[in-house]
Amino acid sequence: MHFGVDYYPEHWVHPYAGTTENPEARWQRDVELMVEAGVNVVRMGEFAWGLYEPEEGKYNFEWMRRAMDLFGKAGIKVVLGTPTAAPPVWLAKKHPEILPKDERGQTLHEGTRRAYCMNSDVYWEYSRRIVRALGEALGKHPQLIAWQIDNGLGGHNTESSFNEETRRDWISWLKAKYETIERLNQMMGTCFWAQTVTRFEDVPMPLHAPTVHNPALILDWMRFCSDTIVAYARMQADLLRELTPNIPVTQNLRALTRHFDHFDMAEVIDFVSVDSNAAIKSRSSELACEIDMMRSLKKAGIKTPDGDNGFWVIEQKAGAVDWQDVNSLVRPGVVRMFTYQLISRGATGVLYFLWRQPRIGSEKFYGGVLTHDGRGQNRTFQEIKEIGQEIKRLGPALKDTKVVADACILFSHENDWNLKFVKQPNKHFHLREHIQLYYNALHDRNIPVDFARPTEDLSKYKIVIAPSLQLLAGGEADLLKLYVQNGGTLIATFNTGLVDEHHIAPDSGFPHDMIDLFGLEVLEFDPLPPGEENHLTLKGAFSATHLHPAKLWCDIIEPKGCQIIGTYAKDFYAGRPAVTTHQFGNGRAIYIGTMSHQHFYNDLAVWLRQLCGINPLLKVPDTVEVGLRQKGGAKVYFLINHQNSPVRIPFYKPMHDFLTGKTFTGNYDLPPHGVLVLDENVASA
Ligand code: GAL
Repeated sequence: MHFGVDYYPEHWVHPYAGTTENPEARWQRDVELMVEAGVNVVRMGEFAWGLYEPEEGKYNFEWMRRAMDLFGKAGIKVVLGTPTAAPPVWLAKKHPEILPKDERGQTLHEGTRRAYCMNSDVYWEYSRRIVRALGEALGKHPQLIAWQIDNGLGGHNTESSFNEETRRDWISWLKAKYETIERLNQMMGTCFWAQTVTRFEDVPMPLHAPTVHNPALILDWMRFCSDTIVAYARMQADLLRELTPNIPVTQNLRALTRHFDHFDMAEVIDFVSVDSNAAIKSRSSELACEIDMMRSLKKAGIKTPDGDNGFWVIEQKAGAVDWQDVNSLVRPGVVRMFTYQLISRGATGVLYFLWRQPRIGSEKFYGGVLTHDGRGQNRTFQEIKEIGQEIKRLGPALKDTKVVADACILFSHENDWNLKFVKQPNKHFHLREHIQLYYNALHDRNIPVDFARPTEDLSKYKIVIAPSLQLLAGGEADLLKLYVQNGGTLIATFNTGLVDEHHIAPDSGFPHDMIDLFGLEVLEFDPLPPGEENHLTLKGAFSATHLHPAKLWCDIIEPKGCQIIGTYAKDFYAGRPAVTTHQFGNGRAIYIGTMSHQHFYNDLAVWLRQLCGINPLLKVPDTVEVGLRQKGGAKVYFLINHQNSPVRIPFYKPMHDFLTGKTFTGNYDLPPHGVLVLDENVASA
């Protein structure tokens, strides 16, 4: 396992550390403290362009080489970022056209990171030059084990810019997609509001306008911006592979908060890396959901530095963040707990952001492994040191293990972008919240979950949940049918198949292309304001532990062969189906026409578990999160107590805990935020 920190050697030279005679003297002490903490990898250099190339064409990589050499002596490996996230000021001064323009046409100025337009040829050319120079200077360094491309691509809302070069690329993109202007007009439905154009050159970018742009145009714009970001990353990845074919390439992604297709991006890189904010979210299942999403971005062709499966957390918060109103101190044991949560869900590398709280710059109050004083006496350092020792013991047991899931939740970026379009039937609907309701139900029952795009091969999953795929392409519907026909269980919901990939609503009824699959048609839907509720009357094997509300959205369903599991209790559609199931080929297609409270989804998960023969990993008290990594027959279980109070877990045979190396039997009191990592012979109440 890789265990490490994000290190900025450039922050720790004279006059901030070191001496006039030996400006880099502090680095040696940092290396020693890292060794003490069990660190075996550092990530560096992702904002160092201005230091690597202080003047155009005058390169200086020697300081970084000296840092890498020092790490080499201590056996610590290095990941280098390409420094393109922060262009040097001289570049913007010489070529102000690289600066991005916002949707009002205003320039975003130099002096911060991310001040560049990804459609700028000049920026591409300068990026190629610095990446090539870096690769040639340091690519053969024996400590180098991976490249990180840029840093936080698309961050600070820089997914799109509205420059003239962007317009040029936008037009080419549209030409490649539609070929003729007639086809563009037809597919975008431009006869609405006089949007018809006679030349590709006249298709607008969605600049600030009196009211909303054509949703089909916005969708294409999102696709185009996503393709632009992915192409920019691919340019760097290709160059790095040419220079250093054996060094894997990664990128630090965030849990789907940025508007580009992360699945596409995952195809460009060799392994996925994640920036995790775990330190601040209270609900363990929200964090778990994000981790599972990120793990799922790349399921095959993974090439990590040590050939392992999985993904890296290249920035895990070592302490507090700095962007909330109150950045509370992270309690003892909490960083450790989150570290194991990440590992339990498949991380094979964890690096903390950041090694030491900087004395300079805008992030000086971010929690670090070391505090500003750098003495290594602080609480977090001691905690990380303990984790480092544990990881050394645990690493061999985890080698080549992976997370295996029977359940899958579908997510498509196109659908997500589409749902962000402002004119929705119900503005209170949030896809992420809807997904989370299903996810919580599975997570809290210790059922592992993958995420996938609807176009992936789903045949290995016993159940597939498709929350609110409002945009569903014809091909996607066909693939879902195939999955069910071959024996799968699909659960879809209200707000599905309302538009196709061109943002055209079907004239053949909702859900688009899937009326036969679900054996029903949605005739109308009734969006409900917050606070207004209908209720569900459930029957048969679906046992309801509570009175379940129908909230936010009620589909009015005409059954066409489906079996009715639940109906609405009131209003003019009282007695109409709300929850249905339909045998289709060898499988079943379940439809949930409304949104309910968490208890409903919990009951649904219990029902599905019986229907589909899905077993929870372990039976433990509700407050304990369970994770499992396996390889062949070997299983490593993680038991994590996210609560502030201890939990008693009874074990019926002697248990071996990897973290302590100790064996115990009988009741085990897992302390607040405590973690157990047990081998496969686990058995509990
Ligand atoms: C990351 C970014 C880092 C740092 C961090 C703070 O996304 O890559 O440079 O700003 O956020 O949380």
